[in-house]
Amino acid sequence: MNYNEHVMKNKCLVGGPHYLKLTGKWITSPLNYLSLTVPFDCNYRCLKCANSLEKITYSNLSEDHTKRSYTNLLSDKEYEDIISNFADAGGRSIAVIGEGEPFHPKQINLTKHIISMAYKNSLNIIVFTNGALLNNDLINFLYEHDTTVLFSVDSLDRDQYTTLTGTGSGKIYDTVIRNIKKISSVYQNKKTALWDAESNEYTAHYIGVHSVLSLHNINDIETIKSFLANDVIHTFGLPLLKGAMSHRYEEFVGNENNHLSFVDAVKAQSETGGSICYNRSQDKCAIMNNGILINPEGNYGVCNYSEALKEFGNWRDHKSLLDVALSIHQRVDAFFEEQGHLPCLLRHQHASKFFHPTDLNTSSSTTQRKIPALV
Ligand SMILES: C[S@@+](CC[C@H](N)C(=O)[O-])C[C@H]1O[C@@H](n2cnc3c(N)ncnc32)[C@H](O)[C@@H]1O
Ligand code: SF4
Repeated sequence: MNYNEHVMKNKCLVGGPHYLKLTGKWITSPLNYLSLTVPFDCNYRCLKCANSLEKITYSNLSEDHTKRSYTNLLSDKEYEDIISNFADAGGRSIAVIGEGEPFHPKQINLTKHIISMAYKNSLNIIVFTNGALLNNDLINFLYEHDTTVLFSVDSLDRDQYTTLTGTGSGKIYDTVIRNIKKISSVYQNKKTALWDAESNEYTAHYIGVHSVLSLHNINDIETIKSFLANDVIHTFGLPLLKGAMSHRYEEFVGNENNHLSFVDAVKAQSETGGSICYNRSQDKCAIMNNGILINPEGNYGVCNYSEALKEFGNWRDHKSLLDVALSIHQRVDAFFEEQGHLPCLLRHQHASKFFHPTDLNTSSSTTQRKIPALV
């Protein structure tokens, strides 16, 4: 049976822009979204990882690729203040997308603290994970705190998954698949039906599988979408040529025509219409246009994959979150007006001009190649 025949036609992601609109929670304010990151620690060595700072190869798999030296990390209390300030400003959803693996033993307490604070402030929370470190206690904790969980799975072929993630043995793949099945069954009764203005029915999903499209999996979309088709939402994203991925263009993308076919596939196949925070009615990313990023040191930015925007300062400067978000969005708008619109700023071929407007010779790792328009 084809997956289209046995799943409800429309799905939405709890906490995503479409969900906020369907539930009447979307606000016409710059602060629907807060993207929070926790410091980079990861149990995987993904060949694509945008947040690894160098090329990952078989010979350096076991090395630490984070190589970040953080200064003055935010304290638990500061995370707490940020989250309650965001809630007071009318904020709706928090996304913990990076930097590394939020459930890594060194970061799990902080991640749980963020989830607890989001829950206490009645905010939606979306967490990305590779899924290998979940256990029953953590699954129950996530369930009790109404957490939306997105699992990154780029292949359902055990060997290919293992190669792409640098996880060495297929046993980790088995664990991840078992964990996704387990959490989907625990969350079964959390799926809810919603109706839009035309009375089309949507199921609101807390559990998702997110796959970054590339030459490795572009022909496997049907297979991926058939996996737990009734139980999870399947989202697809485009490769970002940053970090480890910037050394693997030929292997992952190959040429601009391939990239354009990925753009079409994301539009047609992703059950959010784009990536996770894609706002379809505005054709924009809701984080960089309706939200703000605060990195582990408290610096502001546009998205979890981007460097900090130092000129906008730091959470500790005690400026209003709303004012900072507004000024960042003004700069985003001005950039798109000058350079042409794209839903994702980081994927814009002139992104380096946004981050280094006065440095004409700067080339950022995200823009080493000419990238066609995409989601
Ligand atoms: C950086 S990871 C951090 C969270 C967690 N470790 C995970 O892998 O889900 C967040 C998301 O970024 C995606 N990602 C990583 N590198 C990427 C790249 N080069 N292009 C596009 N997405 C990427 C991952 O697939 C994942 O969905
Ligand atoms: S994509 Fe996620 S799981 Fe993979 S190396 Fe990066 S942070 Fe770790």
